[in-house]
Amino acid sequence: MLTRLRSKSEGKLAKQICKVVLDHFEKQYSNELGDSWSTVRDILTSPELWQHAVLLNRFSYPSALEEELHLKGYHPLVEGSLSYYPKSMKCYLSRTPSRMPSERHQTGNLKKYYLLNAASLLPVLALELKDGEKVLDLCAAPGGKSIALLQCAYPGYLHCNEFDSLRLRWLRQTLESFIPQPLINVIQVSEFDGRDLGHAQPEAFDKVLVDAPCSNDRSWLFSSDSQKAAYRIHQRRNLPLLQIELLRSAIRALRPGGILVYSTCTLSKAENQDVISAILNSYCNIVPVDIREIARTYSQHFTFAPTDHEYGCMVIPDRGKAWGPMYVAKLKKES
Ligand SMILES: C[S@@+](CC[C@H](N)C(=O)[O-])C[C@H]1O[C@@H](n2cnc3c(N)ncnc32)[C@H](O)[C@@H]1O
Repeated sequence: MLTRLRSKSEGKLAKQICKVVLDHFEKQYSNELGDSWSTVRDILTSPELWQHAVLLNRFSYPSALEEELHLKGYHPLVEGSLSYYPKSMKCYLSRTPSRMPSERHQTGNLKKYYLLNAASLLPVLALELKDGEKVLDLCAAPGGKSIALLQCAYPGYLHCNEFDSLRLRWLRQTLESFIPQPLINVIQVSEFDGRDLGHAQPEAFDKVLVDAPCSNDRSWLFSSDSQKAAYRIHQRRNLPLLQIELLRSAIRALRPGGILVYSTCTLSKAENQDVISAILNSYCNIVPVDIREIARTYSQHFTFAPTDHEYGCMVIPDRGKAWGPMYVAKLKKES
């Protein structure tokens, strides 16, 4: 069953909420998030409250664009106090849910900016990419985080992997739209099942990002086919196993001393903290890296769920800070 919503401004029929999904989330998240859930639910079910950040493409944006963003009420996500914040990465946020127009893909023309949920930058920042490093983006399509990684540093080698062939085409197009040719040459795109990549390239990478397939809470709530949505919810219990297997592969691909970041865009504890706990319990050479500095530094832009874990932080959507959900955990493979 679908619940129709009307957009506030025009009274037009807007996106439809899938009741099967909402009921399922209601049960699970009121239990896991307690009092915060009612606000989170209000945001997730009201697309007119969603905010869209603007990540400038350092390879092509004109300086007038920054002025234009200031005039439109955007402000930069600049954080001098974070120990890692590359000056080359410029992201603008707006307190209101305004949205810059999307740019069209045109072969040969680089896009000036990428529209994104600002919380998506947190796993990228947590990775602390430096010039010359070898990095793997294990689940890369449509490519938002690969683009963001390339705003931070010039890696020696970037491997973008995606299992779904349709999404792989989307990934290739994103890279072509944002990245100049000389840099494209350090990028390899592949179509592996990410669970096998660690065997194919053991200990090959300094950094690995696992932005895992998950219950994508925002998009699932607007599933247009209730039957498919019910099936997805049924299959949801298999996701933690897939996520753990992807992490195992990522750990294999990581060199000793390397850094791995795991992220999802779901609030689900089973796909977040429980997955990381399972990994930490089964490897003695994998240790959590404390990323509470990120939560402290960005608390004016994002609302973080209170957590009793040392590892991992979770952005929960809030009024005026409608970013997330985004869970981020950082692990190190000890030598
Ligand atoms: C959350 S999305 C990644 C979003 C991307 N990192 C970005 O920022 O644009 C997860 C991706 O994992 C892909 N995926 C699912 N199963 C996979 C597998 N076994 N191996 C590799 N990728 C997989 C999905 O097709 C999906 O594109």
